[in-house]
Amino acid sequence: MESDRPVTEDRLVNPDMSPLESEDIGIRPTRFADYIGQTKVKDNLVVFIKAARQRGEPLDHVLLYGPPGLGKTTLATIIANEMGANLRVSSGPAIERPGDLAAILTNLAPMDILFIDEIHRLNRSVEEVLYPAMEDFCLDIMIGKGPSARTIRMDVPPFTLIGATTRAGRLSAPLRDRFGVVDRLRYYNVDELVTIVTRSAKALNTTIDAEGAGEIGRRARGTPRIANRLLKRVRDFAQVSNNGVIDYATAKQAMDRLEVDALGLDAIDRQLLLTIIDKFSGGPVGLDTLGASISEETETIEDVYEPYLLQMGLLQRTARGRTATIKAYEYLSRAIPSHFSQVSRQLSIMDIGDDSIDIGDDSIDTGDDAAGIGDDVVDDAAYETGEYGEDNTDADKDRPR
Ligand code: ADE
Repeated sequence: MESDRPVTEDRLVNPDMSPLESEDIGIRPTRFADYIGQTKVKDNLVVFIKAARQRGEPLDHVLLYGPPGLGKTTLATIIANEMGANLRVSSGPAIERPGDLAAILTNLAPMDILFIDEIHRLNRSVEEVLYPAMEDFCLDIMIGKGPSARTIRMDVPPFTLIGATTRAGRLSAPLRDRFGVVDRLRYYNVDELVTIVTRSAKALNTTIDAEGAGEIGRRARGTPRIANRLLKRVRDFAQVSNNGVIDYATAKQAMDRLEVDALGLDAIDRQLLLTIIDKFSGGPVGLDTLGASISEETETIEDVYEPYLLQMGLLQRTARGRTATIKAYEYLSRAIPSHFSQVSRQLSIMDIGDDSIDIGDDSIDTGDDAAGIGDDVVDDAAYETGEYGEDNTDADKDRPR
């Protein structure tokens, strides 16, 4: 087991944005024409924006959800540009009190777009200010206290709210229902990531060939933010040892040195899977126990590590805890235990061609289909809404999430 593992924030494959990346050099697209992937979401938004512009109205409120790093903020920027509107940016944790939100809303100009990242972290009293603002463009402000208290209504300019979240299931139903457009962003396939890497390399004045871009795209975990981060690190290696040219050998060597493997897993991903396999006989193991075993916060495990491992079919969430799949045993060169049935072994063997490391559209669906075969597999949607049974395996009784 790797002991010298990096902390989460330093992970090269952490899909969360670092403060420096938030000012990312001109490699983020600013128009739909340059935006690669998420085709259905993009095509529909193009229509909604065109229609809203024709009517001279603000775009309906938009909720974007999906794993981190897939371009929610980028999409919000593009929507604002395409609407010809200003973008105001805030986040759930930054808006602590109803007064904070009232101040933001009353300072908007007509047709502005307000982007609230991590909108699931707004507290209930703030949410309540948001409802009439979203529905009727007004604020109900309470004046005074006790029996003489009264509310007055104040208009706010017509605006569009774009909410972004990695946890759609954590949004209250009244808030979710007030979004006219709800879009889920999906992991990108390798071809899309290769196109993004090639485009970004151009913006960075870096020479990259198709094989070099392919290798970065394959190891980028379906996530443009990770692809661009890997590109910048590989560029450093190429600059020092290959005249700045990124080809297959340079890309592979660089990422091997960075401990990002052929599937895009890093040391912590492998440690997580190996802990389940070696310490807990493949699982099921409860989230709290797993977190304690690898010294990691349970929320970080859920939000940062697990989504990709689930997508890749290396991990399953069951009602009784986390289990490693046959594919995980095979990938990590561990002997497959006898409790896996012959049928699932054969299915797994059929699944481990070269294709298995290609994150095609089908293999990356977070929906019900991707959740797996067994009855006790808990799909992501149920997980997000907490609609699944108690963990009866774990001594520490993980709370249902
Ligand atoms: N950079 C980050 N995300 C991108 C995308 N979806 N298209 C093009 N470039 C990107």
